[in-house]
Amino acid sequence: MNPHFSSGPCAKRPGWQPAALADALVGRSHRSKPGKAKLNEVIELTRSILGIPDGYRIGIVPGSDTGSVEMALWSMLGARGVDVLAWESFGKEWVTDITKQLKLPDTRVFEAPYGELPDLTKVSPDHDVIFTWNGTTSGVRVPNGDWISDQREGLTICDATSAAFAMQLPWNKLDVITWSWQKVLGGEGAHGMLVLSPRAVARLESYTPDRPLPKIFRMTKGGKLIEGIFEGETINTPSMLAVEDAIDGLRWAQSVGGLPELIRRSESNLAAVVDRQGKSKWFDFLAQRPETRSCTSICLRIVAPKIAALDLEQQAKFVKDIASYLEKEGVAYDIASYRDAPPGLRIWGGATVETKDMEAILDWLDYAFNTKSA
Ligand SMILES: Cc1ncc(COP(=O)(O)O)c(C=O)c1O
Repeated sequence: MNPHFSSGPCAKRPGWQPAALADALVGRSHRSKPGKAKLNEVIELTRSILGIPDGYRIGIVPGSDTGSVEMALWSMLGARGVDVLAWESFGKEWVTDITKQLKLPDTRVFEAPYGELPDLTKVSPDHDVIFTWNGTTSGVRVPNGDWISDQREGLTICDATSAAFAMQLPWNKLDVITWSWQKVLGGEGAHGMLVLSPRAVARLESYTPDRPLPKIFRMTKGGKLIEGIFEGETINTPSMLAVEDAIDGLRWAQSVGGLPELIRRSESNLAAVVDRQGKSKWFDFLAQRPETRSCTSICLRIVAPKIAALDLEQQAKFVKDIASYLEKEGVAYDIASYRDAPPGLRIWGGATVETKDMEAILDWLDYAFNTKSA
């Protein structure tokens, strides 16, 4: 079985070998004709697999998902009021950026504790809104985009790094969408993907924030979008090895049946955990409402009374013991919950994880829990 259940970098696609990188354009310029063709292949495969509308730009940007989100925040915010939503640590990072770094005055923060979502109906269609589609450290996702107005004046900026390729994203409801390669398709960490709706482009071309913007964030020149960034002319130098790996992941995605099959694989992993939870009972989902349970970062807490009665430090130790035991046995790597999240387990169920491996780890978890709590 494959023991890779980390929530990032995530498991490589089934059958991946370093030989998949044999055609990497290493030692060549990314601005050469074949270099640009490779970068453009990433963009076009992404568009076709995810069904991204024609009018949306797709760019490869520096700084992984963080870089991509920050480019959008620094370049676009300040034109109107801002609503920022947070229900786990990554969403909170965007709150910090907006309130403490950008210090935008007209900002409303809607937060919820781990396991819950803020009240999405409070979001104003007149404001720009920033949110994560799937909170990777709490395993809570928004159930859909119905709460986003089709008549909105503001932009929706969506950090979809643990959602893209495993969840249906309603493109017409989203104006800026970001992710990185090392998540659902198991690529290499390095670059960010940045998708812009025509309305997001209009914001860039009509609004210049009164603050310095480092070159790495700049998407316009002379008030016009730098179209090249969205045609494979990256702002600075990408890793052509990571680019080759991204192409490999996208081709794999296409070969298994595209987005519907990627979603099916991930949902099947969640279903295996739901099924086991119904039988085992010693754990529960951190997500309070079933429709918000993530199919990628599946976060579990221990509810067996004997363990739940321990203080948080002892609970964390119990969970660490289980995680280290499974790691030592070579069964599951990196499944303890994120450092800032409540003690528990976080098991990645993205599209590169096989459901038979998920079922195997659940057997091991039952065994480890029963042994360690006896
Ligand atoms: C929701 C979310 N946002 C941002 C990040 C940071 O991503 P990166 O390391 O690609 O910048 C992560 C990483 O796990 C994440 O899960």
